[in-house]
Amino acid sequence: MAKLWGGRFSKNTNELVDAFNASIDFDKRLYHEDIRGSIAHAGMLAKCGIIPAEDGEKIIAGLKDILADIEAGNFHFDVALEDIHMNVEARLTERIGSAGARLHTARSRNDQVALDMHMYMKREVAEIAELLLKFEEALLTVAKKHEKTLMPGYTHLQRAQPITFAHHMLAYFNMLQRDFRRLLGVWEGADMMPLGAGAIAGTTFPIDRFMVAEELNFGTVYPNSMDAVSDRDYIIEFLSFASTLMMHMSRLSEEICLWSSTEFGFVELDDAFATGSSMMPQKKNPDIAELVRGKSGRVFGDNMTLLTIMKGTALAYNKDMQEDKEAIFDALDTVKMCLTAFTPMLDTMRVIPENMRKAAAGGFINATDCADWLTKNGVPFRDAYKATGELVARCIELGTDLENLPMDEYKKVCDVFNDDVYSAISLERCTNERTVFGGPASANV
Ligand code: ARG
Repeated sequence: MAKLWGGRFSKNTNELVDAFNASIDFDKRLYHEDIRGSIAHAGMLAKCGIIPAEDGEKIIAGLKDILADIEAGNFHFDVALEDIHMNVEARLTERIGSAGARLHTARSRNDQVALDMHMYMKREVAEIAELLLKFEEALLTVAKKHEKTLMPGYTHLQRAQPITFAHHMLAYFNMLQRDFRRLLGVWEGADMMPLGAGAIAGTTFPIDRFMVAEELNFGTVYPNSMDAVSDRDYIIEFLSFASTLMMHMSRLSEEICLWSSTEFGFVELDDAFATGSSMMPQKKNPDIAELVRGKSGRVFGDNMTLLTIMKGTALAYNKDMQEDKEAIFDALDTVKMCLTAFTPMLDTMRVIPENMRKAAAGGFINATDCADWLTKNGVPFRDAYKATGELVARCIELGTDLENLPMDEYKKVCDVFNDDVYSAISLERCTNERTVFGGPASANV
């Protein structure tokens, strides 16, 4: 196959080099953006009088035919043509002749691939934003149902203080809101139009980059041609956003795995969103949560891949940058798949408030409130803390809890205690009096 760039070469490319060099297997997914970008470029070239108007029309019609062929599955992608850009261009010229050969005027594959990737990222970011909002909505829905569902809050995975399940869910909601804000930042970075940068130093043709930007709905145009062709920051920003989102989902996944264990029994996953074991008939496994937790590692890897690819590249474009694609495509696919599976799993998850309450009633999670009660009755906090610690030890000795410990035991430790303490350490009060801004009291939540 004759190369589009074959002019200065006297030998054919070695087959191994073709295979090694080619990105068509993975960059063919940019076909839509590549063709839309080329249509905008050709339209601009014609309007600016750089190519004849009728050639512009032929190019645009030819590109639309190729788009239809690809979408109908009637397009053969050729490895010898290396990438999506040359596959489309070669086919165009094959079909419409010399007009097709004018398409690449004032353009390089370096700014072309940058344009394609920006357009592709904008489309994907919009899709992911929607999935993220649905996930946030699912968390809000669960929270709304469980404003009064008491559960133990944990630190060090040890029962700590009482909270509500709503409060717990809304902590994740807040994380996702930050993720959403980061995603908007990714959009901003992607919304800059690189075409017209050429290979590195722009062009002497009187092109209009702003016309292309407007045609393709870009907010801004890269003001530096070298940066335009070698910037992958918006991709790294996406991967950083994606890593953080996956880390959040992985934490919730871990909790769902714990909560759905017999030991916790806080939730039960819907049969449609859990799986069985091939050997153990009793098993119901939280595979989705586990996979999301596992796939977070993949996305972190993709993030590191991009940073490592970029770190040693001198300005401007280097072929290293072709390696951005598999990592970013993998991360995009993974994040979308995880969000798509996770939201309905959450929507259908059965919460078991009785078990949460039972767990909240054990483990002395009202000990802080007992110490606080003493403090509010004039005992310095450190002394109150020590006295309550002694009460807890006594409870463990007697096999009881603070709610059921007799008053004479309280008095032995500190004579400020009276019967009012019992209502102060009831779980409902412990939770609902945490009315501090940001606290779990259902009135705040
Ligand atoms: N397939 C290439 C990439 O993804 C397109 C740009 C190639 N440019 C070049 N001069 N070899 O980065």
